[in-house]
Order: sequence, then C-alpha cells, then structure tokens
Amino acid sequence: MEIRGKKALVTGAASGIGRATALAMAERGARLFITDIDSQGLEETRREIEARGGEVCLCRPLDVSDYEAMRNLAEEIHAGFGPLDILANIAGVALFSQVEDMTHEQWRRVVDVNLWGPYHAIECFVPEMVRAGRGGHVLTVSSTAGIIGLPWHVVYAGTKHALVGSSEVLRYDLRKHGIGVSVILPGAVNTGLVRTTVINADEDACDRGRRIFARHAIPPERVARFIVDAIEKNRFMVITNPDIKLLYFLKRFFPPAYELIMRAMTWFVDHTLTRKTMCQPSHPYSSSTKHKDHGLSHI
Ligand SMILES: NC(=O)c1ccc[n+]([C@@H]2O[C@H](COP(=O)([O-])OP(=O)(O)OC[C@H]3O[C@@H](n4cnc5c(N)ncnc54)[C@H](O)[C@@H]3O)[C@@H](O)[C@H]2O)c1
Repeated sequence: MEIRGKKALVTGAASGIGRATALAMAERGARLFITDIDSQGLEETRREIEARGGEVCLCRPLDVSDYEAMRNLAEEIHAGFGPLDILANIAGVALFSQVEDMTHEQWRRVVDVNLWGPYHAIECFVPEMVRAGRGGHVLTVSSTAGIIGLPWHVVYAGTKHALVGSSEVLRYDLRKHGIGVSVILPGAVNTGLVRTTVINADEDACDRGRRIFARHAIPPERVARFIVDAIEKNRFMVITNPDIKLLYFLKRFFPPAYELIMRAMTWFVDHTLTRKTMCQPSHPYSSSTKHKDHGLSHI
C-alpha cells in the first residue's frame, strides 16, 4: 500500500528501530501517531519529524503493557481521527539470562511488554480498521529469536515466536479485508536496546557481550527501510540480516548443520557471559538464595 497520507501508529517511537521507522514513514508522507514509555525520547522524535516537515497528529507517552492506557489511546485516536491505516508494533524489551538466574519479575516484564503490548494494540485498533473496510497494514517487529532458539533468550524467544505465529494467523484472517500483515525479524541492530537489555551476568561479561553484539549490529535506519518496503510491497516475513537468513535456511533445509551451529553458539555465549563469579539465582523461591552476589546488570 502507499504510505502517503496514511494514519500510522508507531509504538516504541522514542528510540532505535521505532524512531527510525517513524521518521522514514513521515518522510514518505504518513500522518504519524507516536507512542513510547519514554516521554523525553518521544518528544525528541516528534521534534525531529516536525523539523523535517513531517506531520505528527498525536504524541502520547504510555506503557504498552497497560491495557487501559492503550484502550484510552485508541478511543482518543478513533474519536479525533477515525481508524488507523497502519499499526506498527515496535516497542520491546530484552533479557539475556540462563533460566536458573531469572526472577519472576523478569519473566513477567518481558511477556507483558513484548507480547501483551502488541496484543493490546492489535485488540484496540485492528477491529476498527476491519470495520472501516479501507484496508491497511499491521506490522510487528519480532526478532531473530522469533525463528531461532538463541541461547540465553528463553522468555524473549517465547514472546517473539508467539508474535510470528499470531502474525501468520492475521496474515490470512485479514486478507479478505485488504489488510496486509508483516513480521520483521531483525538480527543485531545498533539501538538503545544494546544498552538497556538486562543481562543476568557480571559487569565484565556484560561489557564483553555488548562489544560482540555491537560488532555485528546494523543501523536502525536500515531496518526502517525494510519496514517501509514491507508495508509498500506487502511482504510477510522479513529477515533483515544476511547471517540470520543463512541460519534460518540451514534450520529448514539442513538441520544437522543447524544443530551443530546452535550447540557451538550456546557454548560460546556460555563462555562469554559466564565467569567464576557468575551470578547466583536471585529470586526468593530459589534453593540458592543464600548466594546473594548476583550481578544483574543493564548494558
Ligand atoms: N536491537 C536489536 O538488536 C533488536 C534485534 C531484534 C529485535 N529487536 C526488537 O526491535 C524492537 C525495537 O527495539 P530497539 O532495538 O529499537 O530498542 P530501543 O531500546 O532503542 O527501542 C525500544 C523502545 O521501546 C520502548 N519501550 C520499552 N518498554 C516499553 C513499554 N512498556 N511501553 C512502551 N514503550 C516501551 C523503549 O522506551 C524504547 O524507546 C523491540 O521489539 C526489539 O525486541 C531489536
């Protein structure tokens, strides 16, 4: 579909892929509705769009995991502007951890933001798009972890796999309404997430992990170009990084090679992020709570 003149909601627009996507859509003439939990970053995105001559109809900070807040946003947009044409679910958080080091709060936060966030937006906005009968596009940013069992990603991968599954269902269910569906699967991208991902490891290990990640990362603007292209050409599943395309190819067509690579990757991540002073389980139900020197770190 053509983006010019279309009403587009972008979640996670304060930073990284969300900000780059909002800017790219504004450049193509979309009328933007932007949201993020980070009000300051969101305001910067609004200023940047307007400075480049783009149109921001609404700029509203909210937590995507808060259903009431999403509901209120939908009512405000529908009352003031009518149904959306494009919904872009981009907000997300990440957690690297071995399963035995995760707190219940960590499990819950990743599910609340990465899964309930997009579900809230789909529930609150897509039925109005269907009823309007004007077609449109629903796009969700999943991850490599949505198709590959990346090490240390147990809950993140669960949410991102679920987004791929739900997007596939919507792809066929919404086809009769002229609503296209895309799911974007980025590999490493150089965004705020590199800093804010929670890693259940010690500080040195986090620094090592961050350096390795950044070396392979592509800029968010490149992912935004894939996103815009996916909307314009109604592409369903978009893998943005060539190394991930190869890995997914091996998974589908040459499982023994995939198996070896995944074992090697897991060994590598274990040895990069785990040291002798490695954190101990920190949640209250753990049998090892006497070891309190866990190093929950943000990178
Ligand atoms: N950076 C990567 O390497 C990478 C790789 C694969 C997938 N992704 C996915 O891309 C998406 C965008 O991430 P990014 O890399 O641009 O990171 P980012 O941190 O730069 O952007 C994520 C945005 O989401 C917002 N956010 C977080 N929790 C929120 C909440 N509860 N409610 C509303 N907004 C919230 C943050 O404030 C931030 O602005 C995420 O869904 C992430 O899982 C990123």
